[in-house]
Amino acid sequence: MMLDIRELNAWYGRSHILQGVSLNVREGEIVSVIGRNGAGKTTTLRAVMGLVDRASGAVAFDGEEILKRPVHARFSRGLGYVPEDRRIVPGLSVRENLKLGLVAVKGHDEAEAIDRVAETFPRLKERLDQAADTMSGGEQQMLAIARASVSDPKMLMLDEPSEGIMPVLVDEMFDLFERMKKAGTTILLVEQNVEIALSISDRAYIIDQGLVVHEASAESLLADEAVQDRYCSV
Ligand SMILES: Nc1ncnc2c1ncn2[C@@H]1O[C@H](COP(=O)(O)OP(=O)(O)O)[C@@H](O)[C@H]1O
Ligand SMILES: [Mg+2]
Repeated sequence: MMLDIRELNAWYGRSHILQGVSLNVREGEIVSVIGRNGAGKTTTLRAVMGLVDRASGAVAFDGEEILKRPVHARFSRGLGYVPEDRRIVPGLSVRENLKLGLVAVKGHDEAEAIDRVAETFPRLKERLDQAADTMSGGEQQMLAIARASVSDPKMLMLDEPSEGIMPVLVDEMFDLFERMKKAGTTILLVEQNVEIALSISDRAYIIDQGLVVHEASAESLLADEAVQDRYCSV
């Protein structure tokens, strides 16, 4: 098991947001988490990264309990995270942004790691010395994903990567996720774009009001319009 979340509760201040989320991701899988706005998808990823005010329950990553570990320890164990707001640093070049992906993770040859990631992301390869904020929103999202990949994480968690991005780039991005999976990266994907998410996923969970309300193979969920209508309308 790559990620095993059990009875995860999370709070922002006094607001009890996650009410006992349990889900898991096996090594090599792509698993989607879907659900309407405000359901608790982002909070689930943030709790796994250690970015909520308080959390209880258990989160095992690659065999180690991480819930009480500091955020940087989760990165350095190989857990990559691409947050909703890409947090590209505008004044820096693409290459400099990529280097930031290595800050919390020791033991990588910087030049080699950037060469490797540039091969995977051809759009960035041509733009390594360009200022990051001169790129389109979709290209900046690609950069955020590349930055999370530069340390070669065992697993990547992505929060709505397709949001606000033109369809042609979304297709390119999801092809890329499939290639990353083939190369051995495990992926946990939060998406509101249900169809494209399920099209590359093995399994999916639906979250509603801070709880997992449904789990299914991606294939059966794609065919289940009743469940999609009930839980996935924005
Ligand atoms: N920083 C915060 N402080 C207080 N409440 C928050 C905060 N972030 C999110 N929430 C609340 O937590 C719930 C779940 O939000 P979120 O996890 O962002 O949902 P989703 O990603 O599924 O749209 C919502 O009711 C939202 O208003
Ligand atoms: Mg969200």
